[in-house]
Amino acid sequence: MCGIIGYIGDRCASDILISGLSHLEYRGYDSSGVALMHGNEIDIYKAPGKLINLIEELKSKQDVCAKSHIGIGHIRWATHGLPTTTNAHPHTSNCNNLTLVHNGIIENYQELKEELIKVGSVFKSQTDTEVAAHLIAYEYEKTHDLLKAMQSAVKKIKGAFAFCAIHKSEPDKIVVAKRNAPLVIGVGNGENFIASDIPAMIEYTKKAIYLTDYQVGVVQKDSIQIFDKDDNLTANKIEYLPFEAVAISKLGYKHFMLKEIHEQSDVVRNVLGGRLLSPDKEVNLNEFKLNNDEINKISRVQIIACGTSLHAGMVGKYIIEKFTKIPVDVEPSSEYIYRDTIADKNTLVIGISQSGETADTITAIKQVKECGSHIAIITNRTDSTMARLADSLLPVDAGIEVSVAATKSYMAQLISLYLLSMKIMEVKDKNSAKNPEIMKLKQELLELPSKIEILLENTDNIQRIAKKYSNYKNFIFIARGINFPSALEGALKLKEISYINATGYCAGELKHGPIAMLDENMPVLAILNTGIVYDKVLSNCEEARARQAKLIGVTNYLAEKDERLFDDIIKIPSGSDLISPAINIVVLQLLAYYIAEYLGKDVDQPRNLAKSVTVE
Ligand code: AGP
Ligand code: GLU
Repeated sequence: MCGIIGYIGDRCASDILISGLSHLEYRGYDSSGVALMHGNEIDIYKAPGKLINLIEELKSKQDVCAKSHIGIGHIRWATHGLPTTTNAHPHTSNCNNLTLVHNGIIENYQELKEELIKVGSVFKSQTDTEVAAHLIAYEYEKTHDLLKAMQSAVKKIKGAFAFCAIHKSEPDKIVVAKRNAPLVIGVGNGENFIASDIPAMIEYTKKAIYLTDYQVGVVQKDSIQIFDKDDNLTANKIEYLPFEAVAISKLGYKHFMLKEIHEQSDVVRNVLGGRLLSPDKEVNLNEFKLNNDEINKISRVQIIACGTSLHAGMVGKYIIEKFTKIPVDVEPSSEYIYRDTIADKNTLVIGISQSGETADTITAIKQVKECGSHIAIITNRTDSTMARLADSLLPVDAGIEVSVAATKSYMAQLISLYLLSMKIMEVKDKNSAKNPEIMKLKQELLELPSKIEILLENTDNIQRIAKKYSNYKNFIFIARGINFPSALEGALKLKEISYINATGYCAGELKHGPIAMLDENMPVLAILNTGIVYDKVLSNCEEARARQAKLIGVTNYLAEKDERLFDDIIKIPSGSDLISPAINIVVLQLLAYYIAEYLGKDVDQPRNLAKSVTVE
């Protein structure tokens, strides 16, 4: 689930592996390791915890490391077994001839393990991965050919995997395999790279071959061979990688998260660019591939996503229903999968995912694709598995997001959903482009980047409030209507990076239970925007105040007489209810960031989280 890197060429393999792993660190992990091949020997180095521990370990081995020009490396996000040195990858077979790294989960590892023990395998770790090392080694004994051994082994393995394996008897190659976990081969000149994600190799090459599920490959210094499910040689096209190396630099910011929060005004400009030109022009969304007849037939929309992307989808529901009057269901992918899939060719399914690799969402999308529904994907990674499943690949253009906590990708998803809902509406109602409410929203979208910039230029108040509340153990976020998802997302951001127990509620639900938790030790953050729910949220704030909760108001309008209710107020630029989620969220991201910063937390790599969750 975390990160894989492989190198074969003339350079010092350990340098490339460590640099690659450091660019995968953002995905979150708990241990790391490398295997370096020189001649017919393989040296393995592993360390628990941060990558720096492995780097320290390698420092005293520089001479040995310098000799190796072939190697594989891994950062682990443990699924089976504690994050210890023994459980860290690479793993080896009994004879130590075969060494392998793995991302994913081997679902039938117990049964395979029992069979392998019967034929003499001795297991050293608690991981599912070690089963694959023994299994491939067992198959190797039959043919003495690493490719064939990998091909037969993967046919016996159930689950998700990206493998890189090396063998002492075949010191000129790395054999790779993939199923339901990303793996890409970077094509160089007299050298080749393997990685689970492109930041790991973008500084060395911009050419890549994406492996598809069930493929197995042999990567040598000067050649790459790919074999399909039936073991036939096949040719995958070489693609050009869409990112620059600079995208993975902090550009002077203390954390990637802060840099990414600050990039949001440009992200909005990028997504709108060429698609929304002025308030009186129709939206131009060529990426949406349904024709007008098909759009008119959409009877239902289903949005499937997880985490932050799910919250973007919840905002999307409000906008799509408001403008198109088409009913929209939003559901976490993990729940969607285990029910009957009720969708047909008139259902528009929107899958939202920053990474495009979230296993739950991929499974849900594959499931509903069978029903003949049109699949629109909103992802930040046009090179991802989900992008490849799309009938329409809607624009996100946020640039690579390194911080585990999603920020700018959420903003981009919101903008994409605004464009989509207006596009559908403009097809369904030819006069809608002249509808004053729509024209106002378009104007507000065009002004959004400068409003975000105003907010970002003035963070002193947010920093002060963050410091004041950083020692509270719990937090409640409340809002109503279109900002209810903002409350959920604000609470999620705070939880993720500060580990404060934060929960978002519809403000109206407070009195139906959560109110029992309110006292002077419970800060309540209320989102109050001008609009139909303003007075209602204000009443809910009164209820909280009466229980002595500390109250923070995030508001674009607050009558002077009402200010007395609040302990602290964060004023934000004006905007209609419809646009407000895109403004409010910037405040909530900053608040979470500064609280975590004051608490000295590892903002970009919070504990237990991974940037892309490739297991169900
Ligand atoms: C966001 O801050 C989280 N790390 C997480 O909730 C994330 O949004 C979720 O795992 C979904 O990921 P995706 O957008 O890549 O599918
Ligand atoms: N399931 C394997 C383990 O727990 C691999 C996890 C990963 O993808 O990092 O070691």
